[in-house]
Amino acid sequence: MERTLVLIKPDGVRRNIVGEVISRIERKGLNIVAMDMRTLDADTAKTHYEEHASRPFFGSLVEFITGGPLVAMVVEGERAIEAFRALAGATDPVTAAPGTVRGDFALEVQQNIVHGSDSTYSAEREIKLFFPDL
Ligand code: TYD
Ligand code: MG
Repeated sequence: MERTLVLIKPDGVRRNIVGEVISRIERKGLNIVAMDMRTLDADTAKTHYEEHASRPFFGSLVEFITGGPLVAMVVEGERAIEAFRALAGATDPVTAAPGTVRGDFALEVQQNIVHGSDSTYSAEREIKLFFPDL
């Protein structure tokens, strides 16, 4: 069994598609083992996205991700990291396949609805950051 950190970002909450995303996770057969709605502070957001610190979009990404409540989840299952990223679709919603969350609900790269850890290393780091007691 593998665990991944999933975020329904502030755009997903604002657009009332939390249930839609959760439903897709559940239909896939993945299990939600922790879930919390919260608004991130800038330090947590910068730590979460630290691999992108030198990118030109970093400042606006931090502003966006701290701009309203998000839903953080730990999702568990067989190859959960890859399975959720397949549900999410490509980073750029314009090229994300229809049928994926990003392909179905988004048009802009920053406001792409969901985050999913990209490796076992990232998953462990991100789960510790969001759910230190888990
Ligand atoms: P990245 O880790 O490359 O994508 P993913 O979320 O698919 O793992 O980038 C992290 C987030 O940064 C991405 O979800 C949206 C945002 N982002 C931008 O705002 N502009 C960009 O040019 C890129 C590549 C990402
Ligand atoms: Mg990433």
